Amino acid sequence: MTAGVVSAFDFAARPRIISGPGVAARLGALARELGASRVLLVTDPGIVSAGHAARLVANLQAAEIAVEVFDRVRENPGTREVDACLIAARAFGPDAIVAAGGGSSLDTAKGCNFLYSNGGKMRDYWHTGAASKPFLPLIAVPTTAGTGSECQSFALIVDEESHQKMACGDPKALARIALLDPELTLTQPRRVAALTGFDALVHALETAVTTKRTPVSSLFAREAFALIQANLPRVLETPSDLDARQAIQVGAAWAGVAIEHSMLGATHACANPLTIRHGILHGQAVGMMLPSVLRFNAGDPATAEIYAALAVQAGLNPGGTTVAAVDALISRVEGLARLAGLPSGLADCGVAEADLPALVESATTQWTGRFNPRPVDREAFLALYRAALHAA
Ligand SMILES: [Fe+2]
Repeated sequence: MTAGVVSAFDFAARPRIISGPGVAARLGALARELGASRVLLVTDPGIVSAGHAARLVANLQAAEIAVEVFDRVRENPGTREVDACLIAARAFGPDAIVAAGGGSSLDTAKGCNFLYSNGGKMRDYWHTGAASKPFLPLIAVPTTAGTGSECQSFALIVDEESHQKMACGDPKALARIALLDPELTLTQPRRVAALTGFDALVHALETAVTTKRTPVSSLFAREAFALIQANLPRVLETPSDLDARQAIQVGAAWAGVAIEHSMLGATHACANPLTIRHGILHGQAVGMMLPSVLRFNAGDPATAEIYAALAVQAGLNPGGTTVAAVDALISRVEGLARLAGLPSGLADCGVAEADLPALVESATTQWTGRFNPRPVDREAFLALYRAALHAA
């Protein structure tokens, strides 16, 4: 895509997105609008102990909606959690689902919706297009600002047998409403805010340049990057800054819309094996890989132009050449990584040179790597990992 040329796209504004302090109080009325009278609330124990779940339940009940709570979501949910959630759904018979929490709650709720509405097993829905029957309406209430799952039609579910992370997608799995209340993110520990915020930053930068990008995804990616890069430091320095919390939350949702239309790139292809093989948290893994991927991708002139435009639009004010603007972008990202307290290199997380061949092997199988603007072969993956081993 060059300047002044608009490539083909297919875009409808979905889901409905409602943002603002206190908007979670509208949950009951919004569920009613969708025709709900029996809601399954899918959440995790942390959201229960923070008191958010009880408030959401009370709000739904005040709208004369019966509620059943499934609060056994765990991080990186697998087929076991989805099956447990499905049992709860079948016992209760909901006519709508509310997912409250981070990406894991949203993924579990979406996974449950696949099986409750269409039967079968999660593996049947790996990739996209296999669900023929309508889904229950879903309202997503994110309490972190990171994954953008509230704006995506994919559920990421780990297969308990093969340990593969399956991306199960269908347009019908998309939430009907994403309810973005920044007050719900105030209880996030700083570490969680840092890692989820950094993940959202990576989503913005990856979606901006993928081979599947469209004029629409580019709009969302640009705005996501501008919002997140400006507000992540504010959230980390002043966790009670509600304006900054809202900006990050909206930025993460915009990045989620961008992913829905343009997929991701080599940073995620490299990061997923680091999580699977070395237990490195997703936000850390993408954060440590991002600078080397940016440098690699900037070797493609069209991609470098996009990075430069992002730097200028975000007010990083590099001036001068494309090279200077790309350098400014990378410096900003590295500065944010330090502020977020990310490890300085993979070696700090116990990854050694001897581990790289297995990581490369796994990275080449990652679907998301196919959409990177520069093709990534084994040699390129090895170079990317090597550059991230002892990064500055
Ligand atoms: Fe991510």
